Amino acid sequence: MSVQQQSLPSSKEIYKKISKFIPDAEWKIHAPLIEKINKLKKEKNAIILAHNYQTPEIYHGVADIAADSLALAVEASKTSAEKIILCGVHFMAETAKLMNPTKKVYLPDMQAGCSLASSITGKDVRLLKEKYPGVPVVSYVNTSADVKAETDVCCTSANAVKVVESLNVDKVIFLPDQYLADYVSKNTKVKIISWKGTCIVHEQFTGKEIEDIKSQNPGIKIIAHPECPPDVIKASDFAGSTSGMVKYVKDNQPKKVMLVTECSMSDNVEADNPNVSFIKPCNLCPYMKKIDLKKILDCLENGTNEILLDDKTIEAARKSVIRMTEIGR
Ligand code: 13P
Ligand code: SF4
Repeated sequence: MSVQQQSLPSSKEIYKKISKFIPDAEWKIHAPLIEKINKLKKEKNAIILAHNYQTPEIYHGVADIAADSLALAVEASKTSAEKIILCGVHFMAETAKLMNPTKKVYLPDMQAGCSLASSITGKDVRLLKEKYPGVPVVSYVNTSADVKAETDVCCTSANAVKVVESLNVDKVIFLPDQYLADYVSKNTKVKIISWKGTCIVHEQFTGKEIEDIKSQNPGIKIIAHPECPPDVIKASDFAGSTSGMVKYVKDNQPKKVMLVTECSMSDNVEADNPNVSFIKPCNLCPYMKKIDLKKILDCLENGTNEILLDDKTIEAARKSVIRMTEIGR
């Protein structure tokens, strides 16, 4: 299981682990915020769930759980805390609310979107269902609650093939990431009807770039996220969800590795694997980077940016995410 449970030591101890990635002058601003957040979240009975793409001061500094999107959904459903601060993007916070509707869920910045989630609407899905009557809809969790409400079952990159095969059909509509759809179609006999969405971070990597890095770094292990284009996946040693990537590095301890994904992941994983050397040509997710410590503190102090969904949407969308977590990874 790829959940990182943080024991939250003092800010001094935290900095020892991540000083390589954060200059001293910057840490002077982070440290008091970290101390405040960690104190306040206990007082307010809040849990901080952070995605693996969050910056090291969030991932190693204030997160109670740092994980991939599937594990964050599961953790949101299990928590006994009254409040969930989701450090990630909007669809992740919405998913947390769907998994556990009685909790108050906060997203530190409401502009933290996702190019995949904004590539498709509920209306688009209704039109697809008219075009392909009777064909079940599998939606990537990187979608809005409106899309989830039109969906039979959601998946993440950790369980996409398993979810598709769980339906026991010969054809599915798979939305909205065309590259994840391609990856799934190569790993199952089920026919995949896809959509044209892409992740603006992963679509930038090219097979040529990966081949060049391999020839300059003999023996390097290349680990890619399945949102990457097919030639990137083909040139890689392993493809998996962000927590799948974390686990690969932890279990295999390669001498040298490149994580073909968002920038902060490599820093976060390197801090936990000091004997592994990282090559880091990476791309930033501008949405993930909207979250910072000040905004997290604001959620805790003032209850800003609560995720609100009407009962009808919750009822319609909840089933697809619950079914996803029941299938597991
Ligand atoms: P994971 O489910 O692998 O964490 O990925 C989520 C995501 O948005 C990757 O870009
Ligand atoms: Fe969306 Fe891509 Fe950012 Fe993940 S990395 S949140 S898929 S834009």
